[in-house]
Amino acid sequence: MSALLEVDGLHVRYGDLAALRGISLRVNEGEVVCIIGPNGAGKSTALAAIAGGVAPSAGEIRFDGESVVGRRPEYIARRRVSLVPEGRHIFGTLTVEENLRIGGYMRGNRREALDDMERLLMIFPRLRERLTYPAGRLSGGEQQMLAVARAVMTRPRLLLVDEPSLGLAPLIVDQIYETLLDLRKRENLTLLINEQSSTRILKHADRIYVLRGGQVQLDGRAADLRDGEAIKHAYFGFGASQTTETAA
Ligand SMILES: Nc1ncnc2c1ncn2[C@@H]1O[C@H](COP(=O)(O)OP(=O)(O)OP(=O)(O)O)[C@@H](O)[C@H]1O
Ligand SMILES: [Mg+2]
Repeated sequence: MSALLEVDGLHVRYGDLAALRGISLRVNEGEVVCIIGPNGAGKSTALAAIAGGVAPSAGEIRFDGESVVGRRPEYIARRRVSLVPEGRHIFGTLTVEENLRIGGYMRGNRREALDDMERLLMIFPRLRERLTYPAGRLSGGEQQMLAVARAVMTRPRLLLVDEPSLGLAPLIVDQIYETLLDLRKRENLTLLINEQSSTRILKHADRIYVLRGGQVQLDGRAADLRDGEAIKHAYFGFGASQTTETAA
């Protein structure tokens, strides 16, 4: 498999704080890769850096072989990398349809955008039922679906999704992941997803990276890490207390 995204030795600082301290990761075309880590691990910073939203102080980011480090977000979006940010950022007073159109208009071609919306609504039947609703009245899970669908309207090759499970019930989390996997298949998407917990993710992801303290502590195939022990150690550090054992 060829690498669609390659990150090498990436450092990001916020003033005195080193949020990422030399992370390297690779996402192959067609893979679903998860970055798992506790609060403050640097997960959102990593996705923001890949999307051009924060400037790294060192390191390399290559998308489809091209170095994009230091490029503006608009440039990276045109290379067909799309970010679904933490907290979804949908427009609550606009309808579901208007939110989707905004995603499509960013691309420019109206005809294509309408075709894409029609195709996406087959994958997101709940959104079709709610096209005329104000997006703010959707449930949390539906809002997450909308945020993903809107990002897919920009026709990404690589979709970055920051904590899609946040605040959602386990059943809904599974639905979101099933939809993401369906999108991968039908839209030829490659996915890099942040999550705080690996519990429901291991069965959906191909590979995972465990991030803590701005560094990759562990990476591997999800199938090889299913028992959770290695992840727990990486997530909490060695000598983890028993009280934390269910959190990862
Ligand atoms: N804009 C910012 N300015 C200053 N510090 C920041 C900024 N954004 C993040 N940080 C800090 O950088 C570190 C990494 O934060 P980041 O948001 O990337 O972590 P995260 O893994 O996404 O955490 P969470 O699971 O809580 O979303 C944290 O210590 C955080 O407080
Ligand atoms: Mg975050």
